[in-house]
Amino acid sequence: MAEKEKLRVELCMGSSCFARGNSSTLMGLEGFVEENGLSDRVDLEGHLCLGKCNTGPHLKIGDKEYSGITDPDAVIDLIRKALEE
Ligand code: FES
Repeated sequence: MAEKEKLRVELCMGSSCFARGNSSTLMGLEGFVEENGLSDRVDLEGHLCLGKCNTGPHLKIGDKEYSGITDPDAVIDLIRKALEE
Protein backbone atom coordinates (compact mmCIF):
# COMPACT_ATOMS: atom_id res chain seq x y z
CA MET A 1 0.00 0.00 0.00
CA ALA A 2 1.36 3.38 -0.98
CA GLU A 3 2.13 5.69 1.88
CA LYS A 4 -0.10 8.74 2.01
CA GLU A 5 1.57 11.98 1.08
CA LYS A 6 2.16 14.36 3.93
CA LEU A 7 -0.03 17.42 4.13
CA ARG A 8 2.11 20.51 3.89
CA VAL A 9 1.03 23.41 6.07
CA GLU A 10 2.91 26.66 5.52
CA LEU A 11 2.61 29.69 7.75
CA CYS A 12 3.94 33.13 6.96
CA MET A 13 6.41 33.95 9.69
CA GLY A 14 7.03 37.52 8.57
CA SER A 15 6.65 39.97 11.44
CA SER A 16 3.24 41.28 10.36
CA CYS A 17 1.58 37.87 9.91
CA PHE A 18 3.31 36.58 13.01
CA ALA A 19 1.91 39.45 15.09
CA ARG A 20 -1.52 39.24 13.48
CA GLY A 21 -2.10 35.67 14.58
CA ASN A 22 0.34 33.19 13.08
CA SER A 23 2.34 33.04 16.32
CA SER A 24 -0.63 31.59 18.22
CA THR A 25 -1.66 29.51 15.21
CA LEU A 26 1.81 27.97 15.12
CA MET A 27 1.64 27.07 18.81
CA GLY A 28 -1.87 25.67 18.38
CA LEU A 29 -0.84 23.58 15.39
CA GLU A 30 2.26 22.21 17.07
CA GLY A 31 0.09 21.08 20.00
CA PHE A 32 -2.53 19.62 17.67
CA VAL A 33 0.03 17.63 15.67
CA GLU A 34 1.72 16.33 18.81
CA GLU A 35 -1.46 15.41 20.71
CA ASN A 36 -2.87 13.54 17.73
CA GLY A 37 0.36 11.82 16.71
CA LEU A 38 0.18 13.43 13.28
CA SER A 39 3.83 14.26 12.76
CA ASP A 40 4.02 11.63 10.01
CA ARG A 41 0.96 13.12 8.28
CA VAL A 42 1.52 16.86 8.59
CA ASP A 43 4.55 18.96 7.70
CA LEU A 44 4.59 22.36 9.37
CA GLU A 45 6.72 24.93 7.62
CA GLY A 46 7.30 28.62 8.02
CA HIS A 47 8.17 31.04 5.26
CA LEU A 48 9.22 34.63 4.96
CA CYS A 49 7.03 37.65 4.28
CA LEU A 50 5.08 37.35 1.03
CA GLY A 51 4.71 41.10 0.63
CA LYS A 52 0.95 40.87 1.26
CA CYS A 53 1.03 41.88 4.92
CA ASN A 54 -2.13 44.00 4.85
CA THR A 55 -4.34 40.95 4.20
CA GLY A 56 -2.55 38.64 6.62
CA PRO A 57 -2.05 36.46 8.44
CA HIS A 58 -1.33 34.18 5.49
CA LEU A 59 -1.14 30.43 5.49
CA LYS A 60 -1.32 27.58 3.05
CA ILE A 61 -2.74 24.12 3.60
CA GLY A 62 -1.79 21.76 0.80
CA ASP A 63 -2.24 23.89 -2.30
CA LYS A 64 -4.97 26.11 -0.86
CA GLU A 65 -4.14 29.58 0.40
CA TYR A 66 -5.95 31.28 3.23
CA SER A 67 -5.67 34.75 4.65
CA GLY A 68 -7.10 36.61 7.61
CA ILE A 69 -7.65 33.58 9.83
CA THR A 70 -6.62 34.46 13.37
CA ASP A 71 -8.28 31.60 15.25
CA PRO A 72 -6.01 28.54 15.62
CA ASP A 73 -9.06 26.29 16.03
CA ALA A 74 -10.37 27.40 12.64
CA VAL A 75 -7.02 26.44 11.09
CA ILE A 76 -7.11 23.09 12.88
CA ASP A 77 -10.58 22.44 11.42
CA LEU A 78 -9.27 23.16 7.93
CA ILE A 79 -6.38 20.75 8.48
CA ARG A 80 -8.71 18.03 9.74
CA LYS A 81 -10.82 18.41 6.59
CA ALA A 82 -7.76 18.40 4.35
CA LEU A 83 -6.54 15.19 6.00
CA GLU A 84 -9.88 13.52 5.29
CA GLU A 85 -9.80 14.37 1.58
S1 FES B 1 4.43 39.19 7.03
FE1 FES B 1 3.18 37.77 5.98
S2 FES B 1 2.87 38.72 4.07
FE2 FES B 1 4.18 40.06 5.09
